[in-house]
This record gives sequence, structure tokens and C-alpha cells, in this order.
Amino acid sequence: MVDSNILDIPKSYKAMVRKSKEIGFTMPSDIYIGTFLKTLVASKPGGDFLELGTGIGLSLAWMLDGMNTESLLTSVDNDEKLIAIAEEYFGRDTRLRLICADGAQWIKNNSDRKFDLIFADAWPGKYSEIDEILDMVNVGGFYIIDDMVAQPNWPNGHHENVSRLVDYLEKKENFTLTKMNWSTGLIIAVRNK
Ligand SMILES: C[S@@+](CC[C@H](N)C(=O)[O-])C[C@H]1O[C@@H](n2cnc3c(N)ncnc32)[C@H](O)[C@@H]1O
Repeated sequence: MVDSNILDIPKSYKAMVRKSKEIGFTMPSDIYIGTFLKTLVASKPGGDFLELGTGIGLSLAWMLDGMNTESLLTSVDNDEKLIAIAEEYFGRDTRLRLICADGAQWIKNNSDRKFDLIFADAWPGKYSEIDEILDMVNVGGFYIIDDMVAQPNWPNGHHENVSRLVDYLEKKENFTLTKMNWSTGLIIAVRNK
């Protein structure tokens, strides 16, 4: 098996990768988490999905490709320039709500909502507001994070944040999880109660 042999790359993906290099966006999601998210959202037709940390929309491109017409995706980023780029690519997709807001504040204001998959790709919902975000996962829903093995762009001391988070998730009641040393290091957790 050659996992890099990926045949279903989203139409705009290559142009988006070029764009992210052009604007010097240093935190793009990789192609593997994209394929993984596409597969997971496809398992929940009519699902309601959340991404925290839109960037310019790379992982979002994959999720939209995997979603059926009845599914919805909300994606939140606090950088208006990045959200504007994602709007250019996907603004016309009626399944998508792009929101420019601070993730922590957005979580606080939407704590009564539940999602079938949450991809937590910003600080809030991953290294802060973790209890709050896990409460927003539906029973049978996924909580997904990446960048869990050391990456060149990690700031000094970040491995301690990562260890603390893994430790916390491993002990969290009502979630079943798998750690994967693939892509940038993934955790997939499913709410079981
Ligand atoms: C790892 S990148 C996201 C990558 C993106 N998912 C992709 O597909 O390329 C993290 C993103 O989180 C955003 N971010 C950082 N702090 C945030 C905050 N407090 N609230 C919302 N977004 C934040 C950054 O602007 C950045 O776009």
C-alpha cells in the first residue's frame, strides 16, 4: 500500500497549496489529515461539523468534498485575511458557514450546540476550552486533532502542552480514542456516552 497515492484531491487544492506558500502561511494542514477528514465526514450524511482554525481552507476543502448535500460545516478563524481567502474559494457553498471570531469566545457563545465531528486545529478547543469543546461532541461523534508529534514549527516547550493534552484525553471519561503516528500525529476520539 502506498498511502501517498491519493486520487481524490479536491479541485482547488493544488492552487490553495500554492496560495498558502505565496502568502507565507506557515501552519497549513497536510494532505493526509485532509483525506482522513473527508472519509470521516462521509460516514455521517446530514452531519453537522465544526472546524476551529480555518487557515485558508485546506482541510475545509477536503471536508466539503466528503460531505453530502444535507451536511453543514462551520469553520472559525480569528484572522480576517485568511477567512477572506477561504471565502474566495468556498463562499458560494451553502453548506458552509465561515466565521471570523476568536475561537475561545465562539466556543463560549455556542456551548449549547452539538457536532458530529469537530476538527480542533487552533489553540482554543485543543490547548484551552478542552472540556467545553468535548461537551459539544455528539454521542458517536468524532473529536480530531493533528500536530501531535514534534513539528518543525513548534515553539519552544510546546511538547509539554502536547503531553498534557494527550494525558488528559487518555483519561477522559465517555471517549474512546486512538493515537496515530501518521500524518503529523493524529488523535481520533469518539464520544461513547
Ligand atoms: C494550524 S492552522 C489551521 C490550518 C487549517 N486547518 C488548514 O487546513 O490549513 C491554525 C489556525 O488557527 C487560527 N487561530 C489562531 N488562534 C486562534 C484563535 N484564538 N481563534 C480562532 N482561530 C485562531 C490561525 O489564524 C490559523 O489559521
